[in-house]
Amino acid sequence: MKDELKQIEEEAIAQIDQVETLKEAQDLQVAYLGRKGSITSVLRGMGKLPAEERPVVGELANKVREIISEALENKKTAIEAEQLEAQLAKEHIDVTLPGRHVAIGGPHLLTSIIEEIEDLFIGLGYEVKEGPEVEEDYYNFEALNLPKGHPARDMQDSFYITNELLLRTHTSPVQARTMREVEGREPIRMICPGKVYRRDSDDATHSHQFTQIEGLYIDEKVRMSDLKGTLKLFAKHMFGADREIRLRPSFFPFTEPSVEMDISCKVCAGKGCSVCKKTGWIEILGAGMVHPKVLEMAGYDTEKYTGFAFGMGPDRIAMLKYGVDDIRQFYVNDVRFLSQYHHA
Ligand code: PHE
Repeated sequence: MKDELKQIEEEAIAQIDQVETLKEAQDLQVAYLGRKGSITSVLRGMGKLPAEERPVVGELANKVREIISEALENKKTAIEAEQLEAQLAKEHIDVTLPGRHVAIGGPHLLTSIIEEIEDLFIGLGYEVKEGPEVEEDYYNFEALNLPKGHPARDMQDSFYITNELLLRTHTSPVQARTMREVEGREPIRMICPGKVYRRDSDDATHSHQFTQIEGLYIDEKVRMSDLKGTLKLFAKHMFGADREIRLRPSFFPFTEPSVEMDISCKVCAGKGCSVCKKTGWIEILGAGMVHPKVLEMAGYDTEKYTGFAFGMGPDRIAMLKYGVDDIRQFYVNDVRFLSQYHHA
């Protein structure tokens, strides 16, 4: 019986040596150590042995069982380690490969310009206001001293929705609304950025929808020099300290006197070139002292209060500042164009 056990051991070890998969190891475990395995059947035959031999054979059988079991465990561990190695080799990540590009968005150039202007005026104590884009004829025109039939309405070809409703043609109705809100009792310092609409044929310099920023300052003793100082600060902030401004007389029904502001041309430093049409100056915005009639309509005492207003186009400012030659670029939303200005 001892020989039988020895033989089982040798045979098992030789077989275990050949094992290549976990399944084969498992099968050998059953074949040798299982309930119906070779060692068990040897032990079963022990009853036939003389009593003194039993413990010796029993001990040997246990030893053989341990040897086989250990050999199997070692084999299994080796196979598992090999499999892990193989898997790791297969799933190896090449960290030198270029990563997948993730496109990150950024603010639209007009948004950046509007925010820059907002920041400047917030720093000057102005409040940022909003108003409806579908506006009443009253606020868009009448409250701004443009009664029905006034010829100056033609300056702003409008999209009417009904007789009394239209898409606002400028942001000036927001100054009328803001004055109305305080019923002519308080000073006002506000700017209002937003979209405006005019019945224009789109081309490189016209768009039926564009943006404006309105500014309004009402208080006691507000003078034209305050307007000029504010606009000068604005121009230098937006275009550079070396730019000069000039005010030209103009006409708006809601301001008196009315002006247009030009800045000196950066390209030719005022000498005259194609950008400034040989004048050395570039028109930037409209402004003026709020017309007493407009103040009165809103309930202000014009003996006590005066004010100035200005209106500018972020589209135009962006075009000048960044040399964009077609206003339509802002609205076709071609990311190749827009992404150039994400740092702006
Ligand atoms: N609302 C005027 C326009 O759209 C601009 C402006 C605003 C002029 C305020 C004077 C004062 O042309």
